[in-house]
Amino acid sequence: MRIAVRYYSRGGSTEKAARAIAREAGERAETTDKPLNRRVDLLFIGSGIYKGHIDSHVKDFIESLSPDKVGKAVFFSTAMMGGGKSDEEVRKLLEKKGIPMDTRTFHCHGQFLFFHRGHPDRKDLLDAEIFAKKIIRK
Ligand SMILES: Cc1cc2nc3c(=O)[nH]c(=O)nc-3n(C[C@H](O)[C@H](O)[C@H](O)COP(=O)(O)O)c2cc1C
Repeated sequence: MRIAVRYYSRGGSTEKAARAIAREAGERAETTDKPLNRRVDLLFIGSGIYKGHIDSHVKDFIESLSPDKVGKAVFFSTAMMGGGKSDEEVRKLLEKKGIPMDTRTFHCHGQFLFFHRGHPDRKDLLDAEIFAKKIIRK
């Protein structure tokens, strides 16, 4: 199975989650600045949540995708409060491109100012790995 991991992270928290997922997938985590250069069966795509939304770099990246490039997408995020409505935001963007999104998503806390210092922590990153393992095995 061909897998890619793409993320956008302003502060480094989503990057940590992306790296944990990529470790499990045996791939490199790359930012959304790097286009997909080959077809993948599974695309893990992650973003920090800013003012309730994913970053515009992630939106632009999704816009660049097509169903012949991606079999299925899996969304993950880090946020102060949680993923919130971002699942639906991403699902709609992917739907417009004809790409199915797995109903399973991964969210964990990311550090923001003095909230959730040290997150994602070791447990969060282990959870991210376990999440990736489940997705990849099914
Ligand atoms: C400008 C800004 C706006 C944010 N808005 C939200 C928000 O609306 N909801 C939330 O849960 N977290 C919010 N956060 C917290 C981030 O989602 C959190 O720190 C996340 O882990 C950032 O990911 P990153 O380190 O990969 O950039 C915001 C952070 C910043 C810097």
